Amino acid sequence: MRMKAEDRDLLSLRAKRRGVEGVLGQLSPDPVPAIPFHYGYPFPDSYPLEAMAQAAQDALRLDGADALGYKGGSCAESFSEQVMARSRERDMPTDPTTTIITSGSAQAIQLICNVLLDIGDKVLVEGPTYMGALTLFRNYGADVVAVDLDEDGVRVEAMAERLEAWAKAGKAGPKLFYAIPNFNNPTGVSMSTARRQAVLDLARQYGFLILEDDAYGELRFEGEASPTLRALDTADRVVHVGSMSKILAPGVRLGWAVGPEWLIRRMEIHKADGGTNQLSRAVVGECWRQLDVPKRLDWLRAGYRRRRDAALEALDAEMPSKCTWSHPLGGYFLWLTLPETLRAETLLPEMIQEGVKPLTGGQFFPDGRGQNCFRISYSYPEPDDIRAGIRRMARVIKRHLTGRKTCE
Ligand SMILES: Cc1ncc(COP(=O)(O)O)c(C=O)c1O
Repeated sequence: MRMKAEDRDLLSLRAKRRGVEGVLGQLSPDPVPAIPFHYGYPFPDSYPLEAMAQAAQDALRLDGADALGYKGGSCAESFSEQVMARSRERDMPTDPTTTIITSGSAQAIQLICNVLLDIGDKVLVEGPTYMGALTLFRNYGADVVAVDLDEDGVRVEAMAERLEAWAKAGKAGPKLFYAIPNFNNPTGVSMSTARRQAVLDLARQYGFLILEDDAYGELRFEGEASPTLRALDTADRVVHVGSMSKILAPGVRLGWAVGPEWLIRRMEIHKADGGTNQLSRAVVGECWRQLDVPKRLDWLRAGYRRRRDAALEALDAEMPSKCTWSHPLGGYFLWLTLPETLRAETLLPEMIQEGVKPLTGGQFFPDGRGQNCFRISYSYPEPDDIRAGIRRMARVIKRHLTGRKTCE
């Protein structure tokens, strides 16, 4: 990408600080069709096409011109009501002063950055975490620090040590802790209830806010759900972010945030876009009203469970014993860790040649870790393709482990 020297002066300070590196290399066309373990997409048959078509007709008939105006009509309004009702069912009392509807949850996260972050502000994240959020925090010039995860979620002791060290050194603490407590992207790991409580205690003690990203929270197919951080929060320190992308369709671009009134109000001020997808809100509001939602969610969970099971069976059968992987109880992803001598970046081109495409682990950390890891997204392919994809990955890994190939 070329840029004339004088045009650099047009860039904001934030844009100047940010390089133009990206993950585009991994999105280039594949030499052979690859089983897509890189998509964090719902499986293609999961979209309720007929119900959406019917809802679109009904919403336009019911609301007429209002459905297409800046204000939106009654069906769009019913979407907001549904979001608030669902939040209350999950023990997060809310009303219009503490709820904002956004263009996907990504916009909610961006608005929170807009309102809170100055260049150099610290943001704590789980290590590893969602790369879309990492991109946003970097765009805002934040100093992003990752705290390790284990099978119970973020390691709160490590987090407390860091916070204490900053406080002792007289350094500013973080403004924000970004967490994906249910089925973290990319590992599928969830935070235990005890850890949630401990993180809330730290937020109170050190005065930071928690951004709870719950994109996958409704997709638990095994085990007991923990209360959300927002439900456990007694000090109004959590902003809970949700999305229709994984339970309906990402193309509707609808998400929301439920949080402290002072924050939601500021987010509204910074959201200068003429309203959130009024037509989409109307169609989704009407579709969700017409659908048997519990039945749909159960059906989705069963679909993801089948895929997760296929992935775990194939990993057990195919992967060398030196590899380990997470055992998600919901969501879209699992995390494969190879021996430290192997580098995912080196193996990826061979995997693509073999016809499988996971994402390399390094991009999910802000600090260069995760080089011997892959994110496997089992959400999109059919179970037989998942088994085939893992077999292909294992073939490449074994080749490198038996020493027939050098690793670097
Ligand atoms: C953890 C997490 N948060 C947020 C998003 C963005 O979702 P949306 O489509 O609602 O913007 C994703 C998408 O993959 C995600 O994995």
